[in-house]
Amino acid sequence: MRPFAARFRTPQVRAASSVHDAAFPVISIGSVKSAGTSTLALTIGSASASTRTPVLLIDAGNTRDLSTWASKPGKPTQIEVARCDKTTQLAGLVREGIERRAVVIIDAGTRPDILRAAARLADTVLIPLRFSPLSAFAASLTDELLANEVRGTKTRRCFVASAIAQIPSRIARAVEAEVERSTTERLPIGLAQRAAYEATFMFGGTVFTLGENTAPGLDRAQEEAKAMAAELGVLHSPGSMLASRISHTIRLDRREAA
Ligand SMILES: Nc1ncnc2c1ncn2[C@@H]1O[C@H](COP(=O)(O)OP(=O)(O)OP(=O)(O)O)[C@@H](O)[C@H]1O
Ligand SMILES: [Mg+2]
Repeated sequence: MRPFAARFRTPQVRAASSVHDAAFPVISIGSVKSAGTSTLALTIGSASASTRTPVLLIDAGNTRDLSTWASKPGKPTQIEVARCDKTTQLAGLVREGIERRAVVIIDAGTRPDILRAAARLADTVLIPLRFSPLSAFAASLTDELLANEVRGTKTRRCFVASAIAQIPSRIARAVEAEVERSTTERLPIGLAQRAAYEATFMFGGTVFTLGENTAPGLDRAQEEAKAMAAELGVLHSPGSMLASRISHTIRLDRREAA
């Protein structure tokens, strides 16, 4: 195989590079302390799937939440869930997802070895955060841990607020101010605390497939899910598919060369 740098000089690759931004990023989500990782992973994936985009959810979480969810009725056909128990399985699964041109989302759970391995494979690393002091402390520890893994790469790393209380407490506001001081980006969209998100794990399905009786607050949950997926670049828009395929191939090459 030609060296990586040489492959980059071919005209096709140069042309395709200009559309790299249209690719679906591989997203890894996790924190050393439980903070809504599985809910975020499922919500983002559900929004992608609602635009008929294939999604691979890699369940590397300790509590197997996504695998349990997948065993319930109502899983959209666009979403596949693959269980991952060892760090050595992770790269192969991500590669499969990229080859299937799926949005790949890793629930990296709380184990530092998995968090690190997943961050190395990801384009975007999300660190969920609840507005409590202990959650913020864990998020900042995770941020430090993963900053080392992605140093010198273009990986986007951000905090994401999860299960945001509708009426914030003084402590939540103080924690929020503390997070704002960090140089690490905070995603402009978070997930509010909503019964609709919990309903998906209870009954199966997603906030795009359940009914209002089962999952109250669906409209708002759908809006939030779509806004977050759009911000992360994992919503399918007509015309972007070809660009996305080309850039997937490039990213696969890059990972192999790395
Ligand atoms: N936005 C939300 N609205 C309502 N409930 C939420 C929200 N986010 C998380 N939860 C609830 O908090 C609990 C933990 O969430 P989740 O499983 O997503 O977190 P986790 O970080 O993956 O945790 P674990 O390490 O236990 O797997 C669940 O009961 C979930 O339903
Ligand atoms: Mg979980």
